Amino acid sequence: MTADRLGRAHLWRTAPTTDGPLVLAIESSCDETAAAVLDGTRHVRASIVHSQVAEHAKFGGVVPELASRAHIRAIGTVVAEALREAGCARTDIAGVAVTRGPGLVGSLLVGVEFAKGFGAACGIPVVGVHHIEGHLMAPWLEVAAGFDAPAFPCVALIVSGGHTSLLYATGPGEVEIVGQTLDDAAGEAWDKVAKLLGLGYPGGPILDQLAGQGDPHRWEFPRPMKGRPGHDFSFSGIKTAVAYAVRDAGGPAAVSPADVAASFQAAACEILVHKLVRAAKARRVRHVVVSGGVACNRQLREMLAAAAGPAGLSVSTPPPNLCTDNAAMIGAAGYADVWGAIREGTAFASWSLDAVASWPVDQTAKSHRGDD
Ligand code: KG4
Ligand code: ZN
Repeated sequence: MTADRLGRAHLWRTAPTTDGPLVLAIESSCDETAAAVLDGTRHVRASIVHSQVAEHAKFGGVVPELASRAHIRAIGTVVAEALREAGCARTDIAGVAVTRGPGLVGSLLVGVEFAKGFGAACGIPVVGVHHIEGHLMAPWLEVAAGFDAPAFPCVALIVSGGHTSLLYATGPGEVEIVGQTLDDAAGEAWDKVAKLLGLGYPGGPILDQLAGQGDPHRWEFPRPMKGRPGHDFSFSGIKTAVAYAVRDAGGPAAVSPADVAASFQAAACEILVHKLVRAAKARRVRHVVVSGGVACNRQLREMLAAAAGPAGLSVSTPPPNLCTDNAAMIGAAGYADVWGAIREGTAFASWSLDAVASWPVDQTAKSHRGDD
């Protein structure tokens, strides 16, 4: 019986056990080469993230071809380092979970092909994982337990450099898309605002730091889509409004970057929190999850905490190292599938596992393992 037929939700609920398999997880969808080892209690034994930020910073964003090459150079070392830190040998690993998509196809291919090689060499199953499902499942990792593991059903806001989605999740792999961005991802807006101020890449952490010293009312930037029905987002309008405001004020050298950062964050965070709370009310859930790189943002976390109480919501946000891209979250999302494949006695059945650049998160169940 496959994990899909048995139901991933069922396997997930029964999965935490000290007898559970050791799983190697691999993530390479964008500009982080990452590997992690999870044990049977889903404890993260090791999580190694090799960031390519320095290679892309001078271009102000990720250059796909450079990213693929950097993944090729790093992946062997990153996996070896994860096994060493976990204190295990290759032969101790019982299955592999790897990000299959969405993302940069050249980058994804490096992780997927490495995982298949590892699986074939060790005679163990390899399963493909949806990157967004990884972000969604990050708060359930044992290391994040102090951050109040959420319960299903929940509404999740996944905000990163490539994605801005509101999801309604009734269980692992049981996801409905409630809303998403119609143009830029939220993190992209952070990155572009920092870029137009000449502050470097990635812009999120830089603006996060600066905003604390700025005046959030210096500019009243628009809150696109806030008053409209529905749960979709739009961020290109705020980014354009910031560009015009800076230009009209005389250019980047003539404005206070802290004031721009504070005013931009006030607008962007307000929309994110407003839409999340509204979607949670519409779906009548009591738990919300916020994950992805932008979920590191301190102002976003403060505004969420302030809004959650009155709305009767509990908020789960992973610690920052599990919000940005990492392989532990891929292990969390893929654990039940790996376990299911082991239980059904699949030695290695995933030669056909492919990398997919575009893959809606509500369509993972059918082709989740890439072997059908
Ligand atoms: O999840 P992630 O590592 O990669 C993607 O899947 O895209 O997210 C990276 C994004 C970048 O746009 C970065 O600027 C943003 O997350 N980010 C932040 C913060 N830290 C990272 N945005 C706002 N505030 C932060 N503290
Ligand atoms: Zn991500």
